[in-house]
Amino acid sequence: MGREIIELRETDITTLQVDAIINAANNSLLGGGGVDGAIHRAAGPELLKECRTLNGCPTGEAKITKAYKLPCRYVIHTVGPVWHGGKDNEAELLASCYRNIFTLADEYTLKSLAIPAISTGVYGYPKPQAARIAVCESLTATKQYSSLKHIIFTCFNEDSKKAYEEALK
Ligand code: APR
Repeated sequence: MGREIIELRETDITTLQVDAIINAANNSLLGGGGVDGAIHRAAGPELLKECRTLNGCPTGEAKITKAYKLPCRYVIHTVGPVWHGGKDNEAELLASCYRNIFTLADEYTLKSLAIPAISTGVYGYPKPQAARIAVCESLTATKQYSSLKHIIFTCFNEDSKKAYEEALK
């Protein structure tokens, strides 16, 4: 298992019929802009209703909800670190986002996941470093969890695509 189950795709994550899409949320879990906004818009108001029952999410952790009007089965919400220059434990926190996503995916025996470039938008994490962490943690997870069959990294801009292509080499 490994590299062959990881796919790069330039697409809107809300359209994918995978077991779970990952939301790059904030600590409140009450929605926002970017991919968070797109997911809540596509899922409909019931997603926010369920998120309200979760009492937020600490940075680096992940929580799972149903997907409502989205074509996928679950949404895994994770909160990436805001980039403050790299001396604030950002790399470790971003890595723990991925590790917690895969732990939840395994608990729910999810086979296919779509993951956006967590923290690289509003939160300003440099795309090359973030992509390397994403790929490294994903490769480890594919060896650790046999249920994982397909991981789609969704790119929403050219820079993200290049960063993942580099990281996947
Ligand atoms: N599908 C896939 N990727 C998307 C989509 C989409 N529909 N919309 C945005 N993206 C991409 C962005 O281009 C970026 O590459 O997701 C990546 C993550 O960017 P953000 O959504 O800005 O997430 P992040 O940097 O983690 O910041 C999180 O932004 O939206 C708020 O509530 C959110 O406060 C939180 C913060």
